Amino acid sequence: MRSAALALLLSACATAEPDSEPRLALEDWCPADAEAVEAEVRSHLDAMSLEEKVAQLSGTSLIPNGAGLWPTPTDETHGIPGFRMVDGPRGAHRATGEATAFPVGMARGATWDPVLEQRVGEAIGREVKAKGANVLLAPTVNILRHPLWGRAQETYGEDPHHMGRMGAGFVTGAQTQVIADAKHFAVNSIEDTRFDVSVSIDERALHEVYLPHFKHIIHEAHVGSVMSAYNHVNGPPASESPTLLRDILKNEWGFPGFVVSDWVWAAETTAGSATAGLDVEMPYAEVYGDALIDAVSDGEVSEALVDEAVHRVLRTKLCFAIEESEPDPTQVLTDEARALAREVAERSMVLLKNDGALPVDDGLSVLVTGRLADVANIGDTGSSTVDPPYVITPLQGFTEGAETRAVSHVADALSVTTELSDADVVVVVVGYTEDDEGEGLIAAGDRTSLQLRDEDIAVIEHVATHSDRVLVVIEGGSAVAMPWLDQVEGVLMAWYPGMEGGHALADLIYGTVAPSGRLPISFAQDLDDLPEFDNVSLEVRYDRWHGYTHLDRNDTAPLFAFGFGLTTTTFAYDTPTLAGSLDEDTVEVDVQVTNTGAVEAIETVQVYVGREGSDVVRELRGFAQVKLAPGAAETVSVPVRVADLRSRQDGAWQLEEGTYRFEVGPHSGELNVAGTLTAP
Ligand code: BGC
Repeated sequence: MRSAALALLLSACATAEPDSEPRLALEDWCPADAEAVEAEVRSHLDAMSLEEKVAQLSGTSLIPNGAGLWPTPTDETHGIPGFRMVDGPRGAHRATGEATAFPVGMARGATWDPVLEQRVGEAIGREVKAKGANVLLAPTVNILRHPLWGRAQETYGEDPHHMGRMGAGFVTGAQTQVIADAKHFAVNSIEDTRFDVSVSIDERALHEVYLPHFKHIIHEAHVGSVMSAYNHVNGPPASESPTLLRDILKNEWGFPGFVVSDWVWAAETTAGSATAGLDVEMPYAEVYGDALIDAVSDGEVSEALVDEAVHRVLRTKLCFAIEESEPDPTQVLTDEARALAREVAERSMVLLKNDGALPVDDGLSVLVTGRLADVANIGDTGSSTVDPPYVITPLQGFTEGAETRAVSHVADALSVTTELSDADVVVVVVGYTEDDEGEGLIAAGDRTSLQLRDEDIAVIEHVATHSDRVLVVIEGGSAVAMPWLDQVEGVLMAWYPGMEGGHALADLIYGTVAPSGRLPISFAQDLDDLPEFDNVSLEVRYDRWHGYTHLDRNDTAPLFAFGFGLTTTTFAYDTPTLAGSLDEDTVEVDVQVTNTGAVEAIETVQVYVGREGSDVVRELRGFAQVKLAPGAAETVSVPVRVADLRSRQDGAWQLEEGTYRFEVGPHSGELNVAGTLTAP
């Protein structure tokens, strides 16, 4: 008896706090009076029948309601409002009608600005609330393990630290309006097999690469809900994974909110889902509803499990004081939201090469060409699709309201010859569209190549032989190989830049704003330089290396390094310093940055840490931005959390023995050592 009690105690200790960080406290997470909320939830639970409780745990329809929202039932008897859920990551889903289309998540990841992302989250939250929603199915925070992933455009990048900071910014903003939903938990980085693929992953890779950003978003931004993924992880579907949902998310991290399934087919069995800790099945009851009532009656699922799920649902509703609000069209497509879409697009575009291509003086003649020059190209047609009333194409952006500018357009770029075009600058707009990449099944799925289409390459090469000032503008959701790079003077990665993208592009090209985007992913020279992307097999294995960690480990030079981006000024870094010790919560890297050029611009100072002798050469562990006028200098301080340097083994986090090297610089390929610290 005593030994059984001792075993129980030890096992409770082992699962309760393998992480030395405290679990998230309910009072910190709940924006209302947590104690009062808990009392109210308990009194509801006492008063509700099993049927009423189970009704809280699923949606009511495969397709959205007339307002374009996915509802869960309202309980009139107990005065409990229903959820009204809607996508998504780049604006209110098109099912709700017209809305502001922001640049996609990957573009916003390239801003490296969590505060700007907070404003985006708030703006999208405001619009979906104005359309009657109370749960926003965003942000998408899955690691871009490979640039061919079809939903690359929705997420923020390849790095967990960067992802966590950006996602937390979005959630903090969105939750001033509605409940946000961090998705898809977890290890969801393939489209074509997303419903069936089973991913095997070891503990270190899972906890150090695929989960830290979810934890950060929960602990720092207090997200109200988490959506489980379709794929299986180490056996069960993510929606039925006790390890992911119960052990890690709820027990270890202390997540007090609710877990919602991904849409249709995510949950496979009633008992498996309920036991694992799936709280809400969407968009309608397949394994919950009547099947759950039967499972309780048969003793297959305990009513206590149902109560726990309902408790989380009611707690979240009460803490976030959700309403079933009336639509308010005055809060949709406001001038502020559209101006923000433009500002974000300006901040997101990444100047990758500039041998005299930018900026373009107003007096110069510009020829705009390329397949996408006059195409509204704002992302895929999957669940993140948005229907704006207009999209400023690159050509419109160049010509609109620009009487002083000499802009011409040639649709057939191959007809451009030196004599036909006497333009000073040729801008070629090419890239990917919804036909090339997007969400699986309902959109294009995974991409098949890192190369641009043959016709785009032919156009670039053709134009390059007829002009000595060619700027290639690339649209798309992730990395592109550029065997033609040496033939052109400039390359600007514009991503899918949202409804105001054309204006933003013109602002950058004409020098109204200095480029400040930085790559949130690595651009490899070639597909062979990256880990295998197997979107055919139903069994795949992930390790901890991808993107820059993979390239660094193999000592392979990227085409453009993670974090890279040029601007039209230059920055000089002084000798950096490192302050603090590994016994403290944080250490700090300080470096003075000077704008040595002639244009005001923003610099993103990045700090990477690696343990000497380890096969992880370096990982991003901090970043900060500074805006500097020409000639101005500022010391930028970047804090690094010592907890982020630990590794995960056997259910516990530990700072491994060794010497930790702290490097700082403008991107992962250009760093100076700020100092080293040794863990005994
Ligand atoms: C997607 C989710 C989305 C849901 C509702 C699913 O197919 O994976 O990201 O929120 O549909 O549209």
